[in-house]
Amino acid sequence: MIVDSFLKNSSWSKKDLICVEDLSLNEIREVFALADIFKKSLIDDSTKIPYLSGKTVVSLFFEPSTRTRTAFEMAAHKLGADVISVTSAASSSVKGETLKDTARNIEALMADMIIVRHSASGAAKYLADRIKIPVINAGDGAHAHPTQALLDTFTMREKFGGTDNFAGRKVTILGDILFSRVARSNIHALNKLGAKVTLAGPSTLVPPEFGKLGVKVTYNLYEAISDADVVMLLRIQHERQRANYFPSIGEYANIFGLGKLREPLLKSGAIIMHPGPINRGVELDSELADSDRSVILNQVTNGVAVRMAVMRLCMNAATRQKNAALRSK
Ligand code: CP
Repeated sequence: MIVDSFLKNSSWSKKDLICVEDLSLNEIREVFALADIFKKSLIDDSTKIPYLSGKTVVSLFFEPSTRTRTAFEMAAHKLGADVISVTSAASSSVKGETLKDTARNIEALMADMIIVRHSASGAAKYLADRIKIPVINAGDGAHAHPTQALLDTFTMREKFGGTDNFAGRKVTILGDILFSRVARSNIHALNKLGAKVTLAGPSTLVPPEFGKLGVKVTYNLYEAISDADVVMLLRIQHERQRANYFPSIGEYANIFGLGKLREPLLKSGAIIMHPGPINRGVELDSELADSDRSVILNQVTNGVAVRMAVMRLCMNAATRQKNAALRSK
């Protein structure tokens, strides 16, 4: 009932979620508030919460994934939807079928929503413009990973004690920023929420142009982490790099890796985040990844409730748009 009333009063009007830039602060608040309700339901009662009952969600992953795909599929199951997984290796894309044809065929099969991950920046938007059912971006190239940023900021919000408590908080994102869709989406989400963002890493992977996004850029580890409330580590995305951006992994770890010896540099109470997968011993050592400061597994758990909220809000908007189109006929 509480969800029905929430959805009735929701101002969310997007059938698709492509990037955080498209969201207003109010829409981010709506995701958080609905995710709060779903998270409570998941903790209190493991039975399904049938707000997508009768719907079929297709997860279309053209890149590997553990967390995002499982969390979306788990979220869809929890909402009572049927879930069909399509991976690139087992799809007709290997026979030359285009992304557009793949999606249009899934729509023709009467699917109700597509969750898509693709190596090409812009792939999710490209599909959303060409099919009528909701498209949710599960990561497109180095462009955007909106649900990751929403679950990351949802997790910070739990630490900060509310959406209104981001103002003045310092969040450092450390690592391969250049190739990171997670960094881009988090920068936009954190800017909207009022946090102060610092980007750090090798200068080849943190170009000064990122400063135009209203963030601080530094190549000094001490400066980056010593006053941060949150330190978010990112792995080196070798799969997107076409050149050597630093001499060796060992040298990267020596200069920018966060290990036990560097823990005293952190503020008391500072938390450690990572979107995963972690390359242990490179950007983050196990002593810290598994320490009390780490909220990495909280991020993963929150990913289910946040994706439940996003899927339900997008479906709500799609249903409203469909009903409005029927009424205008
Ligand atoms: N955070 C993230 O996108 O992880 P996966 O690649 O495992 O989905």
